[in-house]
Amino acid sequence: MDAVVQRTLTDLAAKSLPAGAAHYTAYVGPPEQYDLMGAAQFRLLTTLGLRDFHHVLDFGCGSLRAGRLLIPYLAPEHYHGLEPNIWLVEDAVERQLGADLVTLKRPRFHSFADFRAERCGVDFDFILAQSIFSHCGADLIATTLRGFRLALAPGGLALVTLLHPGQDGAAEFHGGDWVYPQSVAHAPRTFARIVAAAGLFCRRLRWFHPRQTWYAVARDPRNLPPRSFDRHLRGAVLNVPEWQASLSRSWDRWRRLVSAGGWR
Ligand SMILES: C[S@@+](CC[C@H](N)C(=O)[O-])C[C@H]1O[C@@H](n2cnc3c(N)ncnc32)[C@H](O)[C@@H]1O
Repeated sequence: MDAVVQRTLTDLAAKSLPAGAAHYTAYVGPPEQYDLMGAAQFRLLTTLGLRDFHHVLDFGCGSLRAGRLLIPYLAPEHYHGLEPNIWLVEDAVERQLGADLVTLKRPRFHSFADFRAERCGVDFDFILAQSIFSHCGADLIATTLRGFRLALAPGGLALVTLLHPGQDGAAEFHGGDWVYPQSVAHAPRTFARIVAAAGLFCRRLRWFHPRQTWYAVARDPRNLPPRSFDRHLRGAVLNVPEWQASLSRSWDRWRRLVSAGGWR
């Protein structure tokens, strides 16, 4: 089907499109998970303590899966979304948020594509990068993390997802640049090395994801959620049966990685 026609489909008709298709609910991932992927991100941030006075950068915000929940919650001008494909933001505003809410909450949108988060501003309390590093070579992850270091407030936290080898049938990616809509995988050890080289610290979070793994990244290791926090994260899993199954599968895979020495 022609991309122009795809873009005009109703949300219901778009549910049968493949991920990456030219509809605002499909370009960013499986269209039937548009709602859940937004809820998962919003709930992770609020579980970690997000308040309305915090400043949030939604890096690669796409069609506002998380943004349509974050924008009403946050104070005016406290939501920043970076998205070079501006049609995604336009369609989400038209079909999910509405112009009145944009007028009221004045979200800030940026459209540059050089992966430099610091150009969006500094002192962000939270930076969200859901399903971004799963499309980046190690070179771009390094550039992005250097920008996160500059853009994060000293006590801020970045929440990012990563596809590991074996998750979703992926093998370790050795190329560079941006890959889309295919996903690429990086081993925990590779990611830990890139994080350390950027002068940052990270920790895997036991928050659910149907395909990937969540990490918290901070400038100061004392700002990473303590391990005891995993108890709360596990308890907050959405009650969606197929997600519960995928969580325990990915947790088993994670344990195998750990016992193979894949993580320190
Ligand atoms: C898999 S989608 C995830 C979108 C969003 N984070 C979410 O969870 O709904 C990846 C997004 O990255 C965006 N993107 C592409 N190039 C980018 C760049 N240079 N900088 C930031 N985002 C980019 C894509 O347009 C797409 O919206």
